[in-house]
Amino acid sequence: SPDSRDPKDQQLQTVRAPDPAGGPLTTDQGVTVDHTDDALAGGERGPTLMEDFHFREKITRFDHERIPERVVHARGAGAYGYFEPYESCAAFTKAAFLQDPSVRTPVFVRFSTVQGPRGSADTVRDVRGFATKFYTSEGNYDLVGNNFPVFFIQDGIKFPDFVHAVKPEPHNEIPTGASAHDTLWDFVSLQPETLHTIMWLMSDRAIPRSYRMMQGFGVHTFRFVTADGKGTFVKFHWKPKLGVHSLVWDEAQEVQGRDPDFNRRDLWDMIAAGHHPEYELGVQLVPEEDEHAFDFDLLDATKIIPEEQVPVRPIGRMVLNRNPDNFFAETEQVAFHTANVVPGIDFTNDPLLQARNFSYLDTQLIRLGGPNFPHLPVNRAVAPVRNNQRDGYHQGQIHRGTSYSPNSLGGGCPAIADPSDTSAYRHMAERVDGRKIRKRSPSFEDHYTQPALFWHSLADWERRHVIDAFRFELGKVQAMQVRTRTVEELAHVDGELAAAVADGIGVPRPAAVGTPSPRPSPALSFENNTGDGSI
Ligand code: HEM
Repeated sequence: SPDSRDPKDQQLQTVRAPDPAGGPLTTDQGVTVDHTDDALAGGERGPTLMEDFHFREKITRFDHERIPERVVHARGAGAYGYFEPYESCAAFTKAAFLQDPSVRTPVFVRFSTVQGPRGSADTVRDVRGFATKFYTSEGNYDLVGNNFPVFFIQDGIKFPDFVHAVKPEPHNEIPTGASAHDTLWDFVSLQPETLHTIMWLMSDRAIPRSYRMMQGFGVHTFRFVTADGKGTFVKFHWKPKLGVHSLVWDEAQEVQGRDPDFNRRDLWDMIAAGHHPEYELGVQLVPEEDEHAFDFDLLDATKIIPEEQVPVRPIGRMVLNRNPDNFFAETEQVAFHTANVVPGIDFTNDPLLQARNFSYLDTQLIRLGGPNFPHLPVNRAVAPVRNNQRDGYHQGQIHRGTSYSPNSLGGGCPAIADPSDTSAYRHMAERVDGRKIRKRSPSFEDHYTQPALFWHSLADWERRHVIDAFRFELGKVQAMQVRTRTVEELAHVDGELAAAVADGIGVPRPAAVGTPSPRPSPALSFENNTGDGSI
């Protein structure tokens, strides 16, 4: 029965298909079918007849059941729930869903692996997607994050290169699961900006035990904006109430064989049993005037803001309490997009984010068959939608009247009438000033300090797991020069790490390279995850 406190669930109630057991089988046209087990034939042993419209409709519908899987993050698991803020965040954002602790905003979350196809195993070594759609009273807001706080590349124009290197080899589609192969490591060894995220990928963070025990990060620096137009840089963090827990590699491999659905099954079963996963939303806030106060660039998605420099401030909690009714309709057809923002949340000029703001809508136009996918039940806003968008494949609404503005003949949807109305989305009036150039900012150049920071934050046993992972993955690389070059890159992170990896994969230890001595960052260590819900 629909949850009366949950406006999304009430909306979904209006589109749930009739109970199939509620009457006899019909065609798509509503004509009752007498018999569905034998095709209409010309004689008992004769040919099937073209005029059997029921047979043709049934087979045609079956033939068309598949849609393209996501180009990345193809395998996922989703759940509905709600978000509630702890207190008003009006001091730094006007976003309506962050104002009132008594207001629950419905959410849909999809967790995913990145590299493997839809039918791959859950417990591979990979990044995990953590995408949240908030159905707010001001429209949908999507926080499309991962379980690592950093990303492999700095500019989204490298994304096709990176993904082509990560995906299976083009000639034989091997490997389909884990990440160990030549093209990935070739790319990594030639592109040192990948190193920070590669360190995370070789750590136990890349084999989460459960989606209920996994952190999430918005990764980019975003902007909060107040009612009077003041901006604050913000990084988003999800922290699981149960603490962060991983499998160890041997466990992960065994689980892959025994139950490839290990993570999705856990999520589904726990929600069904009433053990609702809970995550705390935290933010790191940086005033606009401190944009250049760090020894890295806030617009560089390969960097974290160390928590001892800017602590994470808890602002609310999310509970996942309802499994979807239908995997395809909801989990497969959900469409997240970094550009789905609400008033009070804005972008920065992070070049990775800017590329994503183009890519998601573009890919969904093909994956979901045209421009009307925002009307699909899981994607539909709870806030009213009114505009002059018309027609297109799979139009599910009957628009009446004219559809243009300005309009003196009646109909048409006008833009907001009162320019002082603050409810409309207005982009922050950031000053933009510069020459048109295709060149990475020098402030993005340091690729080694933060991977070293990560390495130094790990406990001994965590370091051993990282070394073992590098040995396992690089040890499968056929091209010896790729192994050697990768180890040489690791020497810029830490000499002992590079030597330990080199010893395990049959390449010479690289000549000593000066290791930066970063401050340890205890906030990044597993040991700091107390699981008590505090950030
Ligand atoms: C899908 C996260 C970078 C393109 C996804 C999904 C997540 C995600 C969570 C799965 C959404 C779902 O469950 O439906 C991230 C993060 C990134 C990042 C955190 C870096 C910070 C990029 C970049 C591009 C990109 C740079 C392209 C320029 C895509 C595409 C999909 C996708 C095309 C498939 C979307 C769909 O079919 O609906 N990403 N991504 N991503 N991402 Fe990213």
